[in-house]
Amino acid sequence: MAAINLTTQKIGANEIAVLTFDLPGEKVNKLSSPVMKELQAHLEKLKTSSYKMVLIKSAKPRIFIAGADIEEIRQLTTKDQVVAAVSGGQSIMNMLEDLPMPTMALVNGACAGGGCELILSCDYRIASEDSSTRIGLPETQLGILPGFGGCIRMPRVVGLQAALDVILAGKLLNAKKALKIGLVDYVVHPNLLEGFANQQIEKIIADGAKKRRKVFKPRGLVAKLLEGVLSGVVFSKAKEGVLKATKGHYPAPLAALDVIKKTYGMSDRAKAMSIELAHFAECAVTDISKNLIHVFYLTEMVKKQTGVSDSNIKGKPVKHLGVLGAGTMGGGIAYVAADKGVDVRVKDISHDANAKALKHARDLWAKLMKKKVIDNYQFTQKMSLVSTTVDFSGFKSIDLTVEAIVENMDIKKKVIAQTAAEMRNDAIIVTNTSSLSVNEMSAGHPRPQYFAGMHFFSPVHKMPLVEVIRGEKSSDETIATVFELAKKMGKMPVVVKDGPGFLVNRLLLPYMAEAAFLLSEGMSIEKVDRAYVHQFGMPMGPFELMDSVGLDVCVKVLNIFKKAYPDRVEMPALMEKLEKNKNRMGQKTNLGFYKYNDGRKGEVDQSIYTELGLGNPTNPYSDQECIERGVFAMVNECCLALDQDRIVETPNEVDLAMIMGTGFPPFRGGLTKYADSVGANYIKTQLDKYSSERKANRLKPSSKLVERASKKAKFYN
Ligand SMILES: NC(=O)c1ccc[n+]([C@@H]2O[C@H](COP(=O)([O-])OP(=O)(O)OC[C@H]3O[C@@H](n4cnc5c(N)ncnc54)[C@H](O)[C@@H]3O)[C@@H](O)[C@H]2O)c1
Repeated sequence: MAAINLTTQKIGANEIAVLTFDLPGEKVNKLSSPVMKELQAHLEKLKTSSYKMVLIKSAKPRIFIAGADIEEIRQLTTKDQVVAAVSGGQSIMNMLEDLPMPTMALVNGACAGGGCELILSCDYRIASEDSSTRIGLPETQLGILPGFGGCIRMPRVVGLQAALDVILAGKLLNAKKALKIGLVDYVVHPNLLEGFANQQIEKIIADGAKKRRKVFKPRGLVAKLLEGVLSGVVFSKAKEGVLKATKGHYPAPLAALDVIKKTYGMSDRAKAMSIELAHFAECAVTDISKNLIHVFYLTEMVKKQTGVSDSNIKGKPVKHLGVLGAGTMGGGIAYVAADKGVDVRVKDISHDANAKALKHARDLWAKLMKKKVIDNYQFTQKMSLVSTTVDFSGFKSIDLTVEAIVENMDIKKKVIAQTAAEMRNDAIIVTNTSSLSVNEMSAGHPRPQYFAGMHFFSPVHKMPLVEVIRGEKSSDETIATVFELAKKMGKMPVVVKDGPGFLVNRLLLPYMAEAAFLLSEGMSIEKVDRAYVHQFGMPMGPFELMDSVGLDVCVKVLNIFKKAYPDRVEMPALMEKLEKNKNRMGQKTNLGFYKYNDGRKGEVDQSIYTELGLGNPTNPYSDQECIERGVFAMVNECCLALDQDRIVETPNEVDLAMIMGTGFPPFRGGLTKYADSVGANYIKTQLDKYSSERKANRLKPSSKLVERASKKAKFYN
């Protein structure tokens, strides 16, 4: 079956050709090699035909063309292979651009990467205003750059500044934004799309069916200057922005910038295309690109999963959500759920807390309204979805309740039992505990098959990860329901087994503790944090992370961890000292390792060294040692969590959870992908060295790491 159908259509007295993309057996259209071959064959025919116009559209609901086939890109390992594969695509887009008759693309739904490059090769572009319409060039997110002429055509169509914004950030635009920058000519209601296109086609034909090579015309003096004599400033500002955002860890946006700089205004298309191709080939074979594609697959994997292995079991829809506790987490959970259209009932013991939770949600939506992301009507509608109570009124109609009250086992058990009595027998309760045992807590529920953990990360509206904790008695249906709810809330769920720290905190704790040991051995806070951020690529260093978690919380959880694993967990003495100063609990008290002003990070608080009896830092170790001690400590623990305790099933979940829950650098592909890149044996050797040189038992390679090292085992084969 064909992926592209060529049909004809009469418009008035004229006949036009219609190319309809409809990849058989797939939900989305992709520009794979076979599809590109079909396109080429159609274009060969059209080149010599007498059709007045060519219309390009998709038969898939709410999808135009999602992009090139990423699997094909992943398979390319040499530059020659890349050049051979991509140059063909460039020629086909050139053929489309060079057709003798005008061409028009009708976009309803996702139009990304190669799909966007295809519409850029057309003369006219009309998009539907449907919310599924997202247009852009996200290639840099995968460590590559637009390779079918996108770097050359985008600036010509929308101008230099807008093209840089679209290409360097790799974000997709909605129809309104695409119209604003001139990426599409018209935006219409999806039901009117075809009729409107026909009218336009009639006009274009009546006007002589002329080709149009749209060239952006800057309006106003400033725009003219920026496109002309000041374009050098635009490029250097763009480079500065990329370096600031990526700390130099992502070469693709810089390569794209270089292509645009070299080809902007170039009239020799073949030469411009060869520059783009050479840069594309450089990027596509890098480990960084392969790692980013790995991360892309991990997120796609979650979209297809249900959280349970039995494919017959489906989660139940959660239309009414209960939230117990209107504090930091409860307020955040209520906001995110209502934002996605779920009706939320929040119960706290305090009216004040309820009022604060409502204010939190209102403030966040007000910000979105100010930025014109939502309108007044949507604001009111979202607000109306959150109600609060201090009793259990309304809980009979609730499908699932998230418990987010104080972190105390006895209180939680009691409140869970009370709540279960107020809800339907088939309703679910989940706990958001970060450190208590879900299995132990399930004893509070009279029907523990309806109980599980749903561990959000703070701040809830920003952090994408949710750990779905499967208790020993949780039923498959409960897990599938929680998993589905997390996805509905726009989160990335990962199913984990119960155990101290679940997955993410269990791996993070040795890393944070190691930073405290480095500090006690003479390293400065700035130097350690800088090494992690600038050299390794973490979004923040371990000291800033501890400040944001709360130093009291870190100590509390470390103690739980130490109790669970006394043979390998050491509590840094300075953390216990720190905990005594109630004014220094981190960001929440405006003082931790750093000083804060209304939550904004300032300088390191230099008085902390004296307070801890440390003297001036001498920075005795290299950045390499600082990074390896922390990161390898995580890998060490990961081997136990994965190989021994089976907290998650595969390295995929570890990588996804670490990226989504801690911001572990995506360009490294995740913790286990990174471990594979350096090798288990190297990690073991270094940990042996550090544990003996620094007299640190905690850094001794775990039995499972030793096993991996001796077998030269990789997490991914
Ligand atoms: N703060 C974090 O970073 C974070 C992250 C993940 C998980 N958690 C977990 O989430 C839970 C809540 O943490 P938080 O930081 O939001 O705490 P918080 O102190 O900000 O809020 C707790 C709220 O629960 C209310 N509450 C107490 N007893 C109650 C009861 N019987 N019924 C209803 N409400 C009651 C309190 O009035 C308070 O408003 C804890 O289990 C914590 O471990 C916290």
